[in-house]
Amino acid sequence: MYQADLEKVHNSAEILADQLRIDALPQHVAIIMDGNGRWALERGYSRIAGHRAGVESARETVLLCRDLGIPALTLYAFSLENWKRPQEEVALLMELFTEFFQQHCRQFLQEGVRLRVIGRIELLPKPVQIMIRELERATQAADQFTLTLALSYSGRDEILSAVNKIVRDTEKGLVDRHSLNEAQFAQYLSTADLPDPDLVIRTSGESRVSNFLLWQIAYSELYFTKTLWPDFSRRELLMALIDYQARDRRLGGLSENKECPEQISDVSKHAEFFYEEKDKEAYRVTSSLEKCWYQPVSLASEPQDPSLVSSWLD
Ligand code: FPP
Repeated sequence: MYQADLEKVHNSAEILADQLRIDALPQHVAIIMDGNGRWALERGYSRIAGHRAGVESARETVLLCRDLGIPALTLYAFSLENWKRPQEEVALLMELFTEFFQQHCRQFLQEGVRLRVIGRIELLPKPVQIMIRELERATQAADQFTLTLALSYSGRDEILSAVNKIVRDTEKGLVDRHSLNEAQFAQYLSTADLPDPDLVIRTSGESRVSNFLLWQIAYSELYFTKTLWPDFSRRELLMALIDYQARDRRLGGLSENKECPEQISDVSKHAEFFYEEKDKEAYRVTSSLEKCWYQPVSLASEPQDPSLVSSWLD
């Protein structure tokens, strides 16, 4: 076989699928779909043609995630900042979202997809709002796969409105502000019923999070690809998932191969950590006072090596 043919075979989605461990898939994938405009420009098409091609990639991605058994996918389709785009592009995008809901609503219902929309829905055109509410209601019982579309969405805005709701609930005596914890705070976010994303993918070569799920992605693995969103194929998604599976997710704790008498895997059970200085060595001590070797570092002098400092903060 020629080298070129061999490469083709090795690059195919089927071969990549063989490398994927089904028992270690992310439970929630979130995607910043970027590059529709550039994709169109490169071909001499209008920007909206790029968005149209982007809808096709989104559809393929939804189906592959669902087929693989990934329970949640969140797609960043329109940010609060996107309202600043030319009126014509915004209007055409709204038409595209309407089309997407109309074309896929039957499929969602038949195939057990639960659809949710997060963001400032009240700013969307009324017919789109009605369609969203209807689809959310009709698909609410599906429990195998949740597709969340972030529309008119801003992470900072979401956090701020959570804070405002908490203040109101504090005034009503429903929340005790002295004991408010992260888990309670997360219940005030629009993603309250979803796990935090394990993997965030951004296409088009930009390496930013652009106000997307700011609270929720604190410990997400980030995957950036140069591929423009309309070219994002099944193969690309598989590559991102395989890359994710090769990562060492410590979630602020230790990796499995480091010496540690007690592996802290469920961080929520050990919500409070504090450091204790003892015999000039640093210990990480859980709230239940079970000691776990963290990193035996001499505290006698200020650390000079910056990578050492960053390893403490990891
Ligand atoms: C980024 O491309 C994409 C958007 C602003 C949002 C539109 C996304 C879609 C239409 C795809 C999926 C839609 C649904 C309904 C699931 P860009 O215009 O920012 O690209 P550029 O950076 O190259 O200009």
